[in-house]
Amino acid sequence: MAGRELKALFRAYREGDELAFRRAAQEIVEEEEAKNHLALARDLRSLITGSSSPLAIVPEMALPDPPMDREGEWPLAQVRRPEKHFEDLVLNGKLVDQLQTLADEYRRWEEIDRRGIPRRQRILFHGPPGCGKTSAAEAIANEIGLPLVVVRIDAVVSSYLGETASNLHRIFDFVGKGSWVLLFDEFDALGKARDDATEHGEVKRVITAFLQMLDAFRGPSLLIAATNHDHLLDPALWRRFDDVLEFPRATVHQSRKLLRRRLRAVHHPGVDIDASAARLKGKPHAAVEKVAWDAIRFSVLDDRAAVEQGDLDRAIDQALARPW
Ligand SMILES: Nc1ncnc2c1ncn2[C@@H]1O[C@H](COP(=O)(O)OP(=O)(O)OP(=O)(O)O)[C@@H](O)[C@H]1O
Ligand SMILES: [Mg+2]
Repeated sequence: MAGRELKALFRAYREGDELAFRRAAQEIVEEEEAKNHLALARDLRSLITGSSSPLAIVPEMALPDPPMDREGEWPLAQVRRPEKHFEDLVLNGKLVDQLQTLADEYRRWEEIDRRGIPRRQRILFHGPPGCGKTSAAEAIANEIGLPLVVVRIDAVVSSYLGETASNLHRIFDFVGKGSWVLLFDEFDALGKARDDATEHGEVKRVITAFLQMLDAFRGPSLLIAATNHDHLLDPALWRRFDDVLEFPRATVHQSRKLLRRRLRAVHHPGVDIDASAARLKGKPHAAVEKVAWDAIRFSVLDDRAAVEQGDLDRAIDQALARPW
């Protein structure tokens, strides 16, 4: 039984969060089923639901239809069930605390409102590519049991005058109708000031409209905007967010942890994880993860049962030779 599900189960119990408890229980049951421990899975299921039939312990998360553009042709956002968990991520302790607090706080918004304290509802994630911003937004949605609505900035930005702001309105209208985690991913594409003089007026209008919508944003959803081009953002944008979380590159310690975690499922005697992590210094988590997958892939393609140091060295050479 994986530690991650057990931890989630215990945390849910401590917080009296029944949905989170059921979700963790369901994952444990599904894991036992996948291992073919069918009798145990059946017993666990009937302990929770009172029935041993393979009914879901957690009601399926209802996914709404996404908001569409004016013609009703293109979805302006992608609505999905979050898959990632906090435990899948390797982050520094401060960031883990900040993310966990955001999720805990979300569950207590009613109380926060009652006490007249402003909610933290609009959050900015920034940092270099591949360090976990999108994944963390997904993990928060999972933790609080809400669908993730990822805004498709490419679909929102329209070449028709005034249409980009209208599309933003459509998204904010949609968000007002339910509880989601709304992610403006790679959000700089909307906020960056372009040099092109002909577009300048329209970009300014879009930013002003967005700021107004951000200011007016209320309701039961959590809004997260993520960027890896923080220097391109309009300064007025920063202070509109209730909190700003930084996602730095992986430390050597984090790379070691991530390599160990990803190689756990395969045999890798004689592999020097410490030295490999040290070579990846300054690289993002996504690079470290790719190194682990590539090393495993090399061993599979070579019909070997174990990953060898040579596989890791080759994967690291490739990772160091490309941009991240
Ligand atoms: N902190 C992390 N811990 C574990 N895996 C990570 C972490 N950060 C990134 N990854 C891995 O790298 C992949 C890319 O990460 P993610 O998309 O979350 O990065 P990002 O910060 O949103 O990047 P970008 O700025 O390019 O959008 C993820 O699928 C995940 O598997
Ligand atoms: Mg991202």
